[in-house]
Amino acid sequence: MRRPFEDQVVIVTGAAFGIGRATALAFARDGAKVVVADTADGGGEETVALIRQQGNLARYVHCDVSDSAQVKVLVESTVKTWGRLDIAFNNAGIEGVQAPTGQLPEAIWKRVLDTNLTGPFLCMQHELKQMEKQGSGVIVNNASILGTVGFANASAYTAAKHGLLGLTKAAALEYAPKGIRINAVCPGFIVTPMLERAGLVEDASVRHGLESLHAAKRLGQPEEVAETVLFLCSPKASFIVGHGLLVDGGYVAQ
Ligand SMILES: NC(=O)c1ccc[n+]([C@@H]2O[C@H](COP(=O)([O-])OP(=O)(O)OC[C@H]3O[C@@H](n4cnc5c(N)ncnc54)[C@H](O)[C@@H]3O)[C@@H](O)[C@H]2O)c1
Repeated sequence: MRRPFEDQVVIVTGAAFGIGRATALAFARDGAKVVVADTADGGGEETVALIRQQGNLARYVHCDVSDSAQVKVLVESTVKTWGRLDIAFNNAGIEGVQAPTGQLPEAIWKRVLDTNLTGPFLCMQHELKQMEKQGSGVIVNNASILGTVGFANASAYTAAKHGLLGLTKAAALEYAPKGIRINAVCPGFIVTPMLERAGLVEDASVRHGLESLHAAKRLGQPEEVAETVLFLCSPKASFIVGHGLLVDGGYVAQ
């Protein structure tokens, strides 16, 4: 039986761990050829190995999404290897540090904006050049619930994700007439290395506090975001354009 993404060429940035890895695995399971892009080479190669163990196709490319030259190489090498680029999930991101705005070091502000906002911008610039040549393509950016509501002590992250949703909408309007759909996902708190590093998972009372912010009274799993990304990239979502789809267990609905 033909799989839903059979032979489609997909780039997933930040696919060494977390949501990116889960999404790369899901695309590969459903037939795609997956380019795993990341700066964490060990984790990226491990994602590729997991995909190959399933009998599917993947390759790893070292790419810092905040560096335009590296993103250019990522897209060009993808096209050189597999002939085209059908789908891109611009997922790579960092958490920064938790601090009130007045005490947030400017260097951290710049690093978070460079990775979480300029990164997807640079990715889209290079991806769109190829997709325009083809006259088709689908892009999903990984925003956050913090692209739609604020969160204390996370001003750089919140600003970047609000910016990313705006960028997604503007780009979606520009490219929809050219046959290219651009959307975003907005996850709630998902159990990944990012959340673990921030100390939000291990301590039972901290975790419980975070869980209780979601109507579902639990944290999300990377696979739940991955399946939403696959839906947005599928023909089932053919009329969804410029949308930020919440995958948040009801966090924002309250
Ligand atoms: N975990 C959550 O609760 C949550 C919620 C909403 C949105 N998100 C977003 O989801 C995305 C993935 O987060 P995650 O939770 O899986 O985190 P994670 O830390 O587990 O994974 C992020 C991946 O991005 C990579 N990365 C970081 N900077 C990079 C760069 N400059 N270039 C290339 N790769 C880079 C990391 O090496 C890592 O593999 C991020 O954009 C994050 O902001 C996460």
